Amino acid sequence: MIYLIGFMGSGKTTVANELSKKIHLPYIEMDESIEKNCGMSIKEMFKTHGETFFRDKETEFLKSLTNKAIVSTGGGVVLREENREYLKNGLSIYLKAEWKTIVERLTSDTDRPLWKGDEKEKKQRFEDRLKLYREAANEVVSVDWKTPEEIADEIWARL
Ligand code: S3P
Repeated sequence: MIYLIGFMGSGKTTVANELSKKIHLPYIEMDESIEKNCGMSIKEMFKTHGETFFRDKETEFLKSLTNKAIVSTGGGVVLREENREYLKNGLSIYLKAEWKTIVERLTSDTDRPLWKGDEKEKKQRFEDRLKLYREAANEVVSVDWKTPEEIADEIWARL
């Protein structure tokens, strides 16, 4: 299993799509699959059931995958230690983006429930997560200034 991990806006989904074309493996978008399974958007899920409900679904889904695939994870999948351990059992690739890149990409985003608060709160969340991504990753790839294709090539070369 190949897992792409990283903060919101680091390009996990686009890169998973590119990589999937190159190495002929299906790609799975975790958030999208959880939304489908639960019959509601992540935004709605957070609002009606709370974050813990979503995190339970996320862990459950992560552990339910059996067929080899490229998995685009949600940015918060690393919050639980059991998930970090689990990710390391596969090939877990951290798409590392600078804060500036994230801000540029997410500036007008309103769909992500945890892209909230003022700049300070967002940046704090970003910084708190960095060590968790490192802990869960087997490989780190910098994504700033690169196209999804270039990033997919770089990952491919390391497989
Ligand atoms: C989250 C990231 C989102 C989604 C949810 C929570 C997070 O995924 O799973 O909104 O805690 O960072 P993306 O990383 O695909 O935006």
